[in-house]
Amino acid sequence: MYKLIAFDAYGTLFDVYSMGQLAEELFPGHGQALALMWRDRQIEYTRLVTMSDPNPNGSRHYLPFWELTLRSLRYCCKRLDLPLNAGYEQRLMDQYAKLTGFSDSLAVLQAIKAKGLSTAILSNGSREMLSTVVAANGLTPYLDQVVSVEDVRLFKTAPQAYELLLKQFPVTKQEVLFVSSNAWDALAAKWYGFDVFWVNRLAHPFEEIGDPPNFEAKSLSEVLDIL
Ligand code: LAC
Repeated sequence: MYKLIAFDAYGTLFDVYSMGQLAEELFPGHGQALALMWRDRQIEYTRLVTMSDPNPNGSRHYLPFWELTLRSLRYCCKRLDLPLNAGYEQRLMDQYAKLTGFSDSLAVLQAIKAKGLSTAILSNGSREMLSTVVAANGLTPYLDQVVSVEDVRLFKTAPQAYELLLKQFPVTKQEVLFVSSNAWDALAAKWYGFDVFWVNRLAHPFEEIGDPPNFEAKSLSEVLDIL
């Protein structure tokens, strides 16, 4: 029934919280707090940019996700009073560029391709950072397309961002299964009209607004059970 399985990138295929380990090495006692706040601020910036100018031709406040990631790192270090010097910044951003994939990301993509289905990433990430992290994790051969919101200069959860999948693949909304570990992303994709698979690794509650996801599981691998 599904023809295209589309994945969110950061947090879903790639482990953003793995940054906590390096952050802890650089700022002992603060690694976890920095990793959490960094992620929140990064997403907060995407929403600010998008909501403050939701122009179908792109927000005039748009900055690539890479840049928002860097700016949010700088903000969080100031906020937490952590001494971010140029060397530390470089190390953190270098690691972000090559974030570790979750242990099952590669095998899941391989299995989906083996079933003859199309695969994609749809991410807030900028094109260059996506191609770096995808290649670093050996996923390139198993993704038909890596779709970046850079094409619309509006971040998820703008509908124009989800719509990109329908522009890039000859499929209907009903033929797309969108997979995300970010509950807000799963919810917005469902609101857009896709069926969604929520990877809930941390046993969090789903959002208290909107409909529940079509599927929920503890790991990415479980997506294979429904295809
Ligand atoms: C992404 C982030 C938001 O990859 O997780 O789109």
